[in-house]
Amino acid sequence: MHLLAASTQRNLGMAIAVVAIVGFAIYLIYNVMWAGRGEKGSELELAPNRKPYLSDEELETSKLDLALVSGLVTLVIIGVALPLYWLGEPGRQQGYLDDSRRQFTSRGFEQYEERCASCHGGGGLGGTTSTSITDDAGNFIAAIEWEVPALTTALYRFSEDEVRHILNYGRPPTPMQAWGAPGGGPLTTQQVDELIQYIQSIQLTPEELQGEVLDGLVLQVRDDVLAANSDLSDRLSAANEAVAAAGADEAAAEAAARQVAAMESELRETSEQYIRALASPERGELLFNNGVYGCARCHTPRDSWRFTGPEAIPGAGPVVLARGSAGEAEVVARLGSLIPAYIPGGGAFGPNLTNGATLRQFDTAEGHAGFVTIGSQEGVGYGNFGQGDGGGQMPAFGECVGDRDSNEQSPFYGFCTLEDGSTRPGMLTADQIADIVAYERGL
Ligand code: HEC
Ligand code: HEC
Repeated sequence: MHLLAASTQRNLGMAIAVVAIVGFAIYLIYNVMWAGRGEKGSELELAPNRKPYLSDEELETSKLDLALVSGLVTLVIIGVALPLYWLGEPGRQQGYLDDSRRQFTSRGFEQYEERCASCHGGGGLGGTTSTSITDDAGNFIAAIEWEVPALTTALYRFSEDEVRHILNYGRPPTPMQAWGAPGGGPLTTQQVDELIQYIQSIQLTPEELQGEVLDGLVLQVRDDVLAANSDLSDRLSAANEAVAAAGADEAAAEAAARQVAAMESELRETSEQYIRALASPERGELLFNNGVYGCARCHTPRDSWRFTGPEAIPGAGPVVLARGSAGEAEVVARLGSLIPAYIPGGGAFGPNLTNGATLRQFDTAEGHAGFVTIGSQEGVGYGNFGQGDGGGQMPAFGECVGDRDSNEQSPFYGFCTLEDGSTRPGMLTADQIADIVAYERGL
């Protein structure tokens, strides 16, 4: 639409230029061939039977009118064209902005594929990276696999400047290194901007995001729900066995697969009911531990990574030891005090939230929820008396408040306003934040 506006302007400009050029040509031809024939009075030396010149009456009526009317028409054309051009100017500018954004996005995509996809996954959907933990002197402690967050919701939680800060300086001591020149990384300011533009282009819609958050909760309660519904659990096992038994019999396999799908959707329905029926702090705990959409990855020690054990099957590579598995318990016992204890909310990249820390920081649940809604801003204190030291690293989890950037040229200008004029919802609803706060205040 903006492009159309821009090309309308171009067409109009062309038309005006053509009118001007043709008019000037006519003027020239008229002067050279007709008016410039000879000096007034020189006709005395020319042919005596020359045509008599126009009379005064004629000159002062039709000739004069013609000159005046053509002058007026030219004036009107200019008078109309200028405001029209002026009206179209924002469209032209917008077209230019859209063009350069498209260009930035595609260059950012190339950057991303080359430098980020190995960890953050294709399309920014998240992944893992193998690394190790070391002590302060750099001595190896254990091999681990770090969970790398999806970037498809980063701009719901961080402003453009906060994302730029993360890209520039990385997030030591995590595997996220400094990429921008200010942090000593290899990327120029423009390349960082291109990456941010690409990240903007892959953000989920608010509906997709709420779906993802719910999926994470459903996954966490799956075992509990199956344990509490033995009938459903039995039917699901039977359906899965039928799939295995169907073997090469295509019709039977298809019927069995339909059975499994039906059981799974019943399980999903039951899980959602189960989550709705939980007490607020219990639901808050699920939300707190909800992977990239939760809080534990920054506030609970060791939550972002798993130990990778020795090869269980020769040649298969190291095995990731699941949370709570026997293998993990063995490694934890062996490493002892070399590693932090797994204490929910015990503090990692973000501060320790246990032993009433949040009660001291925030007198009321409302104040606490307000902070989780808007996150921290760099250099701005938070908490009861502004005693919290805002580093801009605590994400905003609630509804977008105010535009993320004041510069109209910024791709993030207007990010908080959706097409229908409503405010962009946050990663979590106000109810979900209230649940988390209820959980945190009990830590
Ligand atoms: C070696 C793996 C690795 C590479 C390569 C990498 N990252 Fe990261 N990145 C991480 C990890 C791990 C985290 C999360 C750190 C944590 O646990 O707090 C992260 C966090 C981030 C975050 C913050 C997300 C959030 O929700 O907290 C952004 C934004 C980001 N990376 C962007 C990028 C971009 C853009 C590139 C490419 C220039 C890149 N990363 C390359 C591993 C990597
Ligand atoms: C990307 C890492 C990260 C994630 C994810 C995160 N936080 Fe934080 N949080 C921080 C950091 C860092 C601070 C300290 C303030 C700062 O540096 O800006 C903080 C501070 C806090 C504080 C204030 C604590 C105090 O005593 O000062 C609360 C409360 C809090 N976070 C709650 C949450 C909740 C609830 C969630 C999940 C909905 C969450 N955080 C997710 C990084 C994170």
